[in-house]
Amino acid sequence: MDSRNPVAVLVVDDEEPIRNALKRFLTGEQFTVHTAGSGPEALGVLRQHDVALMLSDIRMPGMSGVDLVPQALEVAPDLAIVMLTAVNDATTAALCMQRGAMDYLTKPLELADLGRAVQQALRRRASQVESRQLDVHLKEEFADRAADWERERAQVHRVTVATLEALVNAMEARDPYLRGHSARVADLAATIAAHLGLSDDEVEQVRLSGRLHDIGKIGTREGVMNKQGPLTPDEYDHVKQHVIIGSQILAPLEHLGPVLGAVRSHHERWDGAGYPDGLRGAEIPITARIIGAAEVYDALSTTRPYQNKLSTDQAVRRMRDLVETVLDPKVFAALAEVVTRRRSLVFLEGGEGP
Ligand SMILES: [Fe+2]
Repeated sequence: MDSRNPVAVLVVDDEEPIRNALKRFLTGEQFTVHTAGSGPEALGVLRQHDVALMLSDIRMPGMSGVDLVPQALEVAPDLAIVMLTAVNDATTAALCMQRGAMDYLTKPLELADLGRAVQQALRRRASQVESRQLDVHLKEEFADRAADWERERAQVHRVTVATLEALVNAMEARDPYLRGHSARVADLAATIAAHLGLSDDEVEQVRLSGRLHDIGKIGTREGVMNKQGPLTPDEYDHVKQHVIIGSQILAPLEHLGPVLGAVRSHHERWDGAGYPDGLRGAEIPITARIIGAAEVYDALSTTRPYQNKLSTDQAVRRMRDLVETVLDPKVFAALAEVVTRRRSLVFLEGGEGP
């Protein structure tokens, strides 16, 4: 980064301690940091300063983050926007993405995740700005068209994904035990992927796969999905269909690429006894192995109809018994480190969050 011309970031949150904590972190990352305590204040900052990225809370008194997004883009069309949201508010976050935000992160927030998401959003913004500058220089009709097409494609991609995520969140919201499940799995899986040394792009694929992995449950019958007791073999077969239905829903969206494999294979097992294809070991896409492990952890560490939630240590201990049957040993080791580390970290937790 050019120290003579540091990148400017705007933090918008109505809670001062969160603003200050984010400012401290981002200043340490060599950004110039502006802060605003409300939407209107944020718009004022954007009018006065050349800001590259805005990090904004969703729930604020007066103008909410959802309303701020389009107005901010009107003032600063090249602005990269990342939303911060409580886990049970993921539907609103998806709405912000439909309105032009690039990404969202759920609170409590791990600072390493935040740093990565900020860099990723800035990179995406740089390539958007570049493609527009290319437009200016190459006046030929062809270049204009290609850039338009590229922008449109990116827009369609974002809206499609945001709509699908909204669908998943709406489905989970109906079931108190599932609420926020996919958003939590996505964040944990992305942290594991980063810990395993996957590239930034792959980490983002893992996060997206996590958010969409259970989309096929839209096809699961109500009575089976909410059933309190054990499932009959027929019902279990029916539940298993969700991985196939999910990959069928996503199949026409070619731009989702590896996400499809992750959705289809997240219930495969390391020993080959999983479904739907009985893949074994490294045949299972790494994204699917990570999502599968994160999903098991999430099920153990949240309250379910048939179990009280386990502590971090209890959940890790329970999962250790599944290594080499259900779980990839390498993925399990990364998960154990990540969740143990998470526990000892200071999180930024919003006042409204659970
Ligand atoms: Fe699943």
